[in-house]
Amino acid sequence: MKVTISVIKADVGGYVGHSSVHPKLIEACEEKLQAEKEKGNIIDYFVARAGDDINLIMTHTFGVDNPEIHKIAWEAFKDATKVAKELKLYGAGQDLLSDAFSGNVKGMGPGVAEMEIQERPSEPIIVFMADKTSPSAWNIPLYEMFANPMNTSGLVIDPSMHEGFEFEVLDVKEGDSYRIPTPEGLYDLLALIGSISRYVITKVIRKKDGEIAAVASSQKLSLIAGKYVGKDDPVMVVRAQSGFPAVGEILEPFAKPFLVEGWMRGSHVGPLMPVAMHQSNVSRFDGPPRVVALGFQLSNGKLIGPRDLFDDPAFDEPRRIAYEIANLMRRQGIFEPSRLPEEELEYTTLPMIISKLKGKEVKKVEHSDVD
Ligand code: 13P
Ligand code: 13P
Ligand code: MG
Ligand code: MG
Repeated sequence: MKVTISVIKADVGGYVGHSSVHPKLIEACEEKLQAEKEKGNIIDYFVARAGDDINLIMTHTFGVDNPEIHKIAWEAFKDATKVAKELKLYGAGQDLLSDAFSGNVKGMGPGVAEMEIQERPSEPIIVFMADKTSPSAWNIPLYEMFANPMNTSGLVIDPSMHEGFEFEVLDVKEGDSYRIPTPEGLYDLLALIGSISRYVITKVIRKKDGEIAAVASSQKLSLIAGKYVGKDDPVMVVRAQSGFPAVGEILEPFAKPFLVEGWMRGSHVGPLMPVAMHQSNVSRFDGPPRVVALGFQLSNGKLIGPRDLFDDPAFDEPRRIAYEIANLMRRQGIFEPSRLPEEELEYTTLPMIISKLKGKEVKKVEHSDVD
């Protein structure tokens, strides 16, 4: 059967500050999705969270970009916003950029990752959700999962993966998308996706038969191509096993913590720490950035799960290493590269400071002053 998995996320109010989601907001979303399930509009759902972001995981049969499904998500977020406003949570409704729904949540604030698939006899999927980072956070792990045989042995030893995968890469500045096949286009791929503030992997496709392997959210960025308006805590969906990387190959890239953009005020660089959902309450310097991985088995569209995949002592050591990297970055405070370069800051006082300084008489340094 054909099933669509829609993961739609938004931050509609932080509890406390930008650190977490209040349980009442989760309840508001669950109530809405339960009602839609009972009406038969969606097959199943799970309301998840990562840090201060709510992630609606839904299955249905209406395909991607479906206005009804997007409307359901929009209304769930509206219901949660109402609660957030009552509780005066921080930034209530911050990711709903408009009052009226226009048929598709893309461009209206929420992030979206959707795929329509023919459900296999067994269909394991993993939903990744991150906080205090941006969609390019998936560049390294997607490359590792689908193009690096040192990470994914299956690329070498599983005949169904041996032809490799094709990557769709979005240039967030120009709005262009490129399809890059690997392994032959590996160096082209890396040339692009190494520029994490400009190129973002949005989709991965199996070359052999065109089957979709992974989708990642990027809407906010693509929409505003040409005008960079900041970060968007991203989500992605990855299919596992039988011709796709194994669950463990998909999780493996996160065992080697790497640096991402989006920590404190969306303006700092920090390590992406793999955590269980209950550990995703960002605290230190509003972070460090977190990633949560929820595994599900699909069964005729029903979401069997979740299994909280980073809830494992095997990820204690990566968490500790991420913390050490966090210490190193914090030591550097407001100085680049701990702080992002000027053009990527979410907001800056620099023009104000420059004009203030220009308006003042600057004391000329006399030769004798520096002798
Ligand atoms: P405020 O300026 O609203 O306090 O926000 C700081 C911050 O956390 C930015 O994301
Ligand atoms: P969110 O983007 O998760 O709301 O965080 C804002 C921020 O920058 C907090 O420091
Ligand atoms: Mg927030
Ligand atoms: Mg967030």
